[in-house]
Amino acid sequence: MKTCTFHRATTLALICLVSAVSLPAFASAAAHEAPVVVKWTPGTLRNALTALPTGNPDAGKKVHDELFCASCHGPAGVAPTQNWPHLAGQKSAYTAKMMLDYQDKRRLEGRRAEMMHDIAVMLSPQQIADVAAFYAVQSPPTDDGTPRPRGIAAPKDVPATTLVRRGDKTRLITPCASCHGVVGQGGKLEASALAGQNPLYFVRTMLDFQGGTRHNDSIKGMSLFAKKLSRSEIEALAIYYADLPVTRTK
Ligand code: HEC
Ligand code: HEC
Repeated sequence: MKTCTFHRATTLALICLVSAVSLPAFASAAAHEAPVVVKWTPGTLRNALTALPTGNPDAGKKVHDELFCASCHGPAGVAPTQNWPHLAGQKSAYTAKMMLDYQDKRRLEGRRAEMMHDIAVMLSPQQIADVAAFYAVQSPPTDDGTPRPRGIAAPKDVPATTLVRRGDKTRLITPCASCHGVVGQGGKLEASALAGQNPLYFVRTMLDFQGGTRHNDSIKGMSLFAKKLSRSEIEALAIYYADLPVTRTK
């Protein structure tokens, strides 16, 4: 496993360079105006996503390479770093929503998200659509080699397979599969693909939903579900989804 040594300072220097060369107007607007964070409603989100131009995966590959996405998220969207998210196989609506959320600071749960904000403001709507189309046609990672969390079940834990397929009526947890798809391929609207996702990133982002530092979900479904799960249930779900593509192909 290679560790990405892409430092924030280097990233920012690169970003400044790229912005200065290709998008001066955009970059200076971002630097001088404090963005107003407007929360999504299902209607405004749908409108924003349908207003994006049609994405082209080949053009998206160029964005991915030229704007350094590849240096952190890997040449085909499988990140070489131990706890950074994979983008390969992700649904285009989800990727596009994340880029809009990072741009407008709706998603700003920590310094990693701040880094993504600095990068996302460089992208035009066409580039967002293109890069999202590129990830959507990549195969999800089958085994990313990331160490699995310990996942030792607490006495009251409901097994991951049950949470995924049947949910937990006593805690009003809807089955994960009803939104994320039966094989973690993603579901309606912006419900993300989870198959093969990096388990360390998965746990981190679920804990961010749980603690409220990630609150960009449009109808607060994920925040609600995450708050009801124990840490060990989250770890078991992370392992379940990380291994899902491997299990599927066996
Ligand atoms: C310097 C490293 C770096 C670069 C360059 C970078 N990213 Fe990221 N990206 C990250 C990290 C780290 C996260 C996770 C942030 C977090 O944990 O909140 C992330 C998160 C994301 C997410 C959200 C993933 C999810 O599952 O929710 C998307 C989408 C994304 N990046 C797309 C891009 C695109 C497109 C580019 C190029 C325009 C790019 N990134 C460039 C490091 C990077
Ligand atoms: C009612 C539909 C729904 C259900 C049920 C649901 N999710 Fe989600 N989930 C979503 C949506 C929509 C998003 C995208 C949130 C956003 O916009 O950031 C999401 C995002 C996520 C993410 C973040 C993905 C990423 O790449 O950052 C994880 C992890 C996740 N869900 C796990 C789960 C698990 C585990 C369960 C079952 C316990 C579950 N979800 C149940 C709709 C749902």
